[in-house]
Amino acid sequence: MQVISDIKEAQILCQKWQDEGESISFVPTMGCLHDGHLSLIDKAKSLADHVVVSIFVNPLQFDDINDLLKYPGTLEDDRSKLAEVDVSLVFIPHASSFYPEGEDNVEQIELGEITSILEGAHRPGHFAGVATVVKRLFKIIQPNFAIFGDKDFQQLMVIKQLVKKFSLDINIIGMPIFRENDGLAMSSRNIHLSKSERKKSAEIYRQLESVKSAIKAIAHPGLADFADLEQSTSKNLIAAGFTPEYVAIRQVDTLLPAKNHDSALVILVAAKIGKIRLIDNILV
Ligand code: PAF
Repeated sequence: MQVISDIKEAQILCQKWQDEGESISFVPTMGCLHDGHLSLIDKAKSLADHVVVSIFVNPLQFDDINDLLKYPGTLEDDRSKLAEVDVSLVFIPHASSFYPEGEDNVEQIELGEITSILEGAHRPGHFAGVATVVKRLFKIIQPNFAIFGDKDFQQLMVIKQLVKKFSLDINIIGMPIFRENDGLAMSSRNIHLSKSERKKSAEIYRQLESVKSAIKAIAHPGLADFADLEQSTSKNLIAAGFTPEYVAIRQVDTLLPAKNHDSALVILVAAKIGKIRLIDNILV
């Protein structure tokens, strides 16, 4: 396993693999790796000759400086986990060389409406930051495949849009959410949950499952049913100690509000417990 911080060096190595006809799967991360990341790496290994994992806490995608400052850093632990699963390259760039123009001067990528709803509405600028970092990472690594988790469902749609907009020849693969035994979606942020918050957090998944069952139980669900379910779920989350930011029943391919159940749906939740913001979703 090679560990490289230098951008040029990483670029040359990946170009060499491509020149030799060896394919690359890429898993971009912000570190603090958990079993969810390892499942993405497993998939990446099944697809290509080389797996590249990046670890970079991208300052551009944090709308809240405190969130950035307390983002967990576990580099040594991450490196030993990656050595165990034997990836070809771990790319750990420094912010100063990744954004040589200075973080405040980066021209960010805007991708339209998909970036301004739901997560985008609650975290202004977040998806422009994600699109910008991922586009630069793609340029350095030049992967054939890039693997992302379905937990960040909207992010996955943003990345697909990015690839389309810039006609990038990269297969974007989404992987199912990896959950703890009680249903809590794995996330680097879970590390910050207190014992009691951790215990309560599984309620989000229970609520998602219960909305899913309720939708299935209605013969022809419509706008009013979806609105009722969104409201009652918000109330249930509040009663369980959360501060919900949204509970949204949306069309899976556009993330626009669901009007009926003609197309596949996704239920998305963002809610805070204490100071920790959790997101989750479930397909219907
Ligand atoms: O999902 C993440 O961890 C980040 O948003 C990503 C894709 C690595 C970009 O910084």
